[in-house]
Amino acid sequence: MTEWILFVQLFVGLLLIPGEDASCAIELTPPRVVVKYGDPVSVKCTTSAEEFDGLGWEASEGGTGLKEERYVMLTVQSVAEWDNNPMCFITSGTNQCSTRLGLVIYTFPENISISSSIESSEEMRENEEYILTCSILNIAPVQNLTVRWYQGNQIIYSENLTNSTKKPTNQTSIFRFTPTRQDDRTTIRTLHGLQVKCEAELNLGPEGPQPPPLMTSDPFTLSVHYKPRINTTKLPELVPVISGYKEELVCEADGNPAPTVAWNYTATAFLGSNGMLTVNEEGTYICIANNSLAIVKHEIKVILTEDYLPLLAGFVALTVVAISIIFIFIYSIYYKNTKMRRYNLKNPKLSIHNGNVAHNGWDIQLPVTKLS
Ligand SMILES: *[C@@H]1O[C@H](CO)[C@@H](O)[C@H](O)[C@H]1NC(C)=O
Ligand SMILES: *[C@@H]1O[C@H](CO)[C@@H](O)[C@H](O)[C@H]1NC(C)=O
Ligand SMILES: *[C@@H]1O[C@H](CO)[C@@H](O)[C@H](O)[C@H]1NC(C)=O
Ligand SMILES: *[C@@H]1O[C@H](CO)[C@@H](O)[C@H](O)[C@H]1NC(C)=O
Ligand SMILES: *[C@@H]1O[C@H](CO)[C@@H](O)[C@H](O)[C@H]1NC(C)=O
Ligand SMILES: *[C@@H]1O[C@H](CO)[C@@H](O)[C@H](O)[C@H]1NC(C)=O
Ligand SMILES: *[C@@H]1O[C@H](CO)[C@@H](O)[C@H](O)[C@H]1NC(C)=O
Ligand SMILES: *[C@@H]1O[C@H](CO)[C@@H](O)[C@H](O)[C@H]1NC(C)=O
Repeated sequence: MTEWILFVQLFVGLLLIPGEDASCAIELTPPRVVVKYGDPVSVKCTTSAEEFDGLGWEASEGGTGLKEERYVMLTVQSVAEWDNNPMCFITSGTNQCSTRLGLVIYTFPENISISSSIESSEEMRENEEYILTCSILNIAPVQNLTVRWYQGNQIIYSENLTNSTKKPTNQTSIFRFTPTRQDDRTTIRTLHGLQVKCEAELNLGPEGPQPPPLMTSDPFTLSVHYKPRINTTKLPELVPVISGYKEELVCEADGNPAPTVAWNYTATAFLGSNGMLTVNEEGTYICIANNSLAIVKHEIKVILTEDYLPLLAGFVALTVVAISIIFIFIYSIYYKNTKMRRYNLKNPKLSIHNGNVAHNGWDIQLPVTKLS
């Protein structure tokens, strides 16, 4: 029974404690304010209550005493307090209630910059993880800050920072980056290197500055080092060379730093100034691509194959000669026959006898048989 009474007393006590109350006959215009640190603020607190003793603002900056007015103004010429939490109070006898102003004080970062976990970007190697840090100096409030990382124009990472502090702080966004050799070429095609940027956007909603303020770091250029890789599409392992002919071997290697390309061979070959090797002997030729990270080798076997072209040409020539002889032979017979026929056609008797001859000029056999 005593517990029950205690509970009721506690409940009544809670009701009597002055606090924020939505049913307070107070109206704030505007109810939410987003202001830049150093800028002025002006908020009106009005009551619709018929009877009250006093109305006033309680604030660490711009507070007023209780006044017997229909409205009171919270006025700050230049916001200088980060932890200001203004509330408008109304008192009536022993009753008091209040409404809190939604006040957001912001400041834009002084500076935003990228740093890397390694001393010099020269050290960065493909397929190894590096930590890039975006430092945002002097930002408030943090909870509405979005940090985006860009590689060229592409977003590679983004995060929303969460920190409930209202005061300006230095914030960092960490991006774990594992470069690949492709990355090295993404932004600058002719030079080796890639550029990353980080960007901080402070989005404070419709009451905040529009468009949301944005600050971008200077581009941070990275150089990704990688082992030489010999282009084997241009250089198969087995190269057949027709004996008596030459073949050009092109060894191209991709790497950063740019590799030096050399050939190792025992056969005699001609090495051009551009690294192109002209070979006409069977043997093993090794292309060696070398940079500060690795030495890469690619072995090529050159084999000689017989040249069937002269043989083929001879065969063709022989065939042509044979056909020519046959043709000449046939023609000579035909020519002889035509002469004969021309002579025979003068004989009308034969013409009547063999009607075929007149329109079958091509048949060389027919007149021969008829004549015999
Ligand atoms: C601020 O940014 C500039 C480049 O925008 C940079 O040179 C300078 O070091 C930065 N200052 C600090 C304190 O980080
Ligand atoms: C950050 O917050 C915005 C909205 O406030 C949301 O659209 C976005 O997806 C968030 N980004 C991340 C990385 O959480
Ligand atoms: C907010 O940021 C400050 C400064 O960076 C730091 O000291 C504090 O621990 C952070 N608070 C939370 C909750 O992360
Ligand atoms: C933020 O960093 C700057 C430069 O490093 C420093 O001068 C300043 O005191 C830092 N601010 C806070 C709140 O830690
Ligand atoms: C800003 O942060 C606060 C606290 O996390 C959140 O309530 C509010 O919706 C955020 N505003 C925007 C526009 O994201
Ligand atoms: C290798 O050479 C071929 C032919 O020129 C080219 O198409 C290909 O892109 C090259 N590959 C690399 C990895 O450079
Ligand atoms: C060249 O080849 C010979 C024989 O295979 C070998 O002894 C030598 O070490 C090679 N040189 C290089 C630079 O690889
Ligand atoms: C690798 O290249 C360097 C020049 O870049 C050269 O001095 C060195 O002898 C080469 N090493 C081999 C093993 O070919």
